[in-house]
Amino acid sequence: MNRDATGYAASGEVASMAALDAFAEDLLGYRAEIGRIVKAAEADPSCALANAWAAALWLLTETRKGHARAARFLDRASAAAATERERLAVASIRAWHAGDTATALALCAESAVRFPRDLVAVKLGQYHALNRGDAPSLLRLPLLAAAANEHVPWVHGMLAFGYEECHLLEEAEHEARHAIELRRDEPWAHHALAHVLLTQDRAEEGIDFLATVADTWEGRNPFVVTHNWWHQTLFLLDRDRTDEALALYDTRVFALEPSWGQIQAGAVSLLIRLELHGVDVGDRWQRLAPRLATPDQRHVEPFIDLHLVLGLARAGHPEAETVLAGIADRTATAHEATRAAWAEVALPAARALAGFGRGDHEACVRDLSPVLPRLHEIGGSHAQRDLFEQILIASLLRTGRLAQAQRMLALRQALNPKVPMTQRLLARVLAAAGVPRA
Ligand SMILES: [Fe+2]
Repeated sequence: MNRDATGYAASGEVASMAALDAFAEDLLGYRAEIGRIVKAAEADPSCALANAWAAALWLLTETRKGHARAARFLDRASAAAATERERLAVASIRAWHAGDTATALALCAESAVRFPRDLVAVKLGQYHALNRGDAPSLLRLPLLAAAANEHVPWVHGMLAFGYEECHLLEEAEHEARHAIELRRDEPWAHHALAHVLLTQDRAEEGIDFLATVADTWEGRNPFVVTHNWWHQTLFLLDRDRTDEALALYDTRVFALEPSWGQIQAGAVSLLIRLELHGVDVGDRWQRLAPRLATPDQRHVEPFIDLHLVLGLARAGHPEAETVLAGIADRTATAHEATRAAWAEVALPAARALAGFGRGDHEACVRDLSPVLPRLHEIGGSHAQRDLFEQILIASLLRTGRLAQAQRMLALRQALNPKVPMTQRLLARVLAAAGVPRA
């Protein structure tokens, strides 16, 4: 039997081993060439991992089309799987295809224990952990693989993000900087460090840091390019540099692959944040809405659906109601691994965001307040979900609920004291409540 670069045995032809190695680098390094695993899988039905990973790549598109296309590769991977590592990979991706992301995640963790040099399983496991709002697993997975991959930059990038989402920020910064020392062009380590600097209110440092590494993102997977630029806009907004953030929306955040749900989510998130800063975004909602209205990216990830509803409602597009109705249907059809997230969190949150989009702030407060503590269940990072907290604060202010707004703003002020928008809103709340500022 042949072996790939991990040193573990793998079924398939000799030529397929190079394809497996390329996929691992493409996935971990966010390379745009990642689609080549599909060609390799087509060329070698006897290679279980190439076919399993081709299925995974289709699932990573988070589209209905991708879900349908994954099936054939999964069947071939099942038939070809000959080693325990391959059987674990196939079982995990099959569970994912069936909507059982809890099992998919557990099997990735099992792979990390038994085959720690297989970092594809660790990366896919982190993806499931992120989508399930499971920060401890996001950290545990790369920790399981860390000792076997001490000099591999990707592992330190994954550790950095895991630590950050667990709010272990010193460790996160250390791991991110170590990954970048090993490899300057490690976009996921750049991303993790951006999260740390944002959380610690170090926007000036963040802006400078991202500017110095942005050249290495050229030609990478559009998700990581647009998402890292989106992080740059968060720093800019935290310092009221709204003109620059708006310019980046046009040139970077929504410039690549605008038909992809993840990129649309970033665009919606940024436009709302700009508006919360008082920026007139012109006809950008009208230009974005037709992209949000295409059905292929709906009802795969609740995180994406919430942004679709929000953006379509804000644009006054009738498809907002269709997506909302689809989310309601999804609560009955979702696998039990995600059903509570759809039914108990995503659906009320989607109603709230539709309300916010059309200016119904009473509805937004009513439906968003109760689910805010559970919002991590719909996936995404702290920074991404912070949009929903900002939206709730805006609706609280619009409906005169000063006490709840004050509580949330005071906490934000304590954590990020240098953000002018928080200072302004808090001052407004205190003035309205008749409290003179010290
Ligand atoms: Fe991020």
